[in-house]
This record gives sequence, structure tokens and C-alpha cells, in this order.
Amino acid sequence: MDANRTIFSAPGKIILFGEHSVVYGHPAIVTAINLRTKCIVTKSSQKEVLLSISSNYSLNASSTRLKKKYIMNKEQKEFSEQDSNYEQPVNPAYYFITEKVLSLSTINKHPHIHINSEIPPGIGLGSSAANSVASLASLSAFMELELSMEELNELAFEAEKIIHGNPSGVDNTISTYGGIQFYKEKKFSQLNIPDFLSYVVIVNSGIPRNTKTYVEKVAKSLEEDTTKYQKILEEIGELTAIAKSSLMEGNISKLGNLMTQNHLLLEKLGVSLPILTNLTNSLVQLGSLGSKLTGAGGGGCVIGLFDDYQKANRAIEKMNSRGFQAFMSSLSERGVQGE
Ligand code: PMV
Repeated sequence: MDANRTIFSAPGKIILFGEHSVVYGHPAIVTAINLRTKCIVTKSSQKEVLLSISSNYSLNASSTRLKKKYIMNKEQKEFSEQDSNYEQPVNPAYYFITEKVLSLSTINKHPHIHINSEIPPGIGLGSSAANSVASLASLSAFMELELSMEELNELAFEAEKIIHGNPSGVDNTISTYGGIQFYKEKKFSQLNIPDFLSYVVIVNSGIPRNTKTYVEKVAKSLEEDTTKYQKILEEIGELTAIAKSSLMEGNISKLGNLMTQNHLLLEKLGVSLPILTNLTNSLVQLGSLGSKLTGAGGGGCVIGLFDDYQKANRAIEKMNSRGFQAFMSSLSERGVQGE
């Protein structure tokens, strides 16, 4: 790869089982999807470090945002908008990543970091982790800094902490290594992707939400009623371990059933919304073997597991006709990769 133009991409994800309980040391099953963030780093045209962000949400062309350009502001320790009056600073993880890589590198170059993401942000598909992983990989290659996969994953985890407060590390790990993972306490094992997992339908409720808020909500509930909420988290953990066995046995109907049970537990945990439960019920009525919210909850997406391609497609059409963005996820073996 030409060190004056480096290109890396990293995937988004869906959590099949175990969100929230994973923050408390229980396992989660998570899979990379074929929506990716690409990060291209070139030489800056100025003697400044630049960051350009654009998006290409192929799922929904009308949501494509205008490209924005930011400049690294070392005094304020942030990237601020270059072309317009000072607006909102960009996600602070970019500053952390850039500052970290530039300080570890022994060469002197001014990078221009271009982020282009297909992953819609704020709906639980792992856009922030994919952005961090892709930019860490591309920027370190540009700055001729050799990072091992473990180091890259660890730095992406630090970036996730800046954004989400107390993350489990599942998002950055799946984005770094790809595939389908049984993840627990920063360790994971790769599972084989069974064919039947090709028919996972994702439906976007259209309600934006914030991971940090919902992780904090669960922490507060735990503080207020430890016995009740610890029990729910333990039940999710146990269910996730059973889901792993069902996945390996290829028992798709049991897996579907466990998904629905997982959703009910997330409801009890207080992270669902009536609309999310309605969407999961609709997916089951449309032939899904099981359905649940995915990610932190409070909005974002639900997933439904189907054993039949036609049925899954009909469910997508139905959801689209009701005004919901719905699509078939394509699970992906690919983690972070150079191009
Ligand atoms: O950012 P989301 O919506 O994919 O949620 C991440 C999953 C949580 O378990 C809620 C948080 C975490 O860090 O694992």
C-alpha cells in the first residue's frame, strides 16, 4: 500500500443475543454485517491535520449528509468545523485517535482523514466502533506505525469509552475481527456462520437513541433494585449461552424462540419501547421464528430470524409499505481490512 494514500474499511454489527448483560460480564453473540465504514488517509493540502466526514447510507439515499470538513485544534483538543462558523465539535473519539497515532508515530506528516460510512449512526449497528477501527487502521498505516490487531482493538475500545462511557468492548472487537463471535469480558471465540443466519431481517424503528443513555439507565436500575435487575441480566446471560449451543447445533427454531425470550427480558430491563415490541410482534406474525431489539434499545433497530428467503422478503416489503426501513442483513466474515 502507498503510504501517502491508505485505505481501510471496517464493518458494522448486529447483536444477536446479550446486549446490556454483556456490560456486566455475561456473554453476547454478535455478528459483523456487510455495511462498512471506509477511511482513506491522504496528505493534507495544508500544514494542518484535516478530517472530512461523509456518509453513503445506501439503505436510504435521501439521508446522505453533506460532506463536512474539520480541522484539528490542538489547543481545544478537538476537531472543529473549518468551513462554517464554529458549530458542534465532531465526535471526540476522532481527536483521541488522531492525537494518539500522531504521538506514537516517529514520522512527521500532516494527514487528511476521510471517513465515508455506509452505516447509519445512532441505530445500534455499530457505526461509531466501525469509524474508530477503520480510522485507526488507515491512519496508523499512513503514519507508518505498526499496530497489531490487539493494539488496534484496544485503542478502538478507548475511543468507544470516550463516546459511550462504559462499553463492554463488543462493538470494537467485532468490527476489528469480523465474523460471528461469542464475546465475554474482552475475550471472544469465533463461531461458524451457519447458512440459515443469512435470513436475518433488520427493521429500523426510525427512533434515534443514545447508547450511553441506555447503558446508564440500566446501571441506575441496578443501583435502585440490585436483586431484580441482576436476575434479569443473569437470565439474559444464561439464555445467550443456550443460544450458542442452538447455533452450533443448527437448531434455528430454538434460536428464534430464544431471540423472542431475549426481547422480553430486555423489555423487563426497561430498554425497549412499545414501538419496538410492536415491530418484533409484527415480524413474528410475518413468519419470523423469533425477534428482538438489537443494540442498546430506546429506539434503533429490531431483528427477526427467518428460515425462508421468500418469507423474509415479504416481511421486508410489508415493513417498507408501513414506512419502516427494512433490509436483509448480510453477515460478514470480514473484519478490518486494507484495500
Ligand atoms: O451501541 P449499541 O446500540 O450497539 O449497543 C451496544 C450494546 C450494549 O450492550 C448496550 C453496550 C455495550 O457496550 O455492550
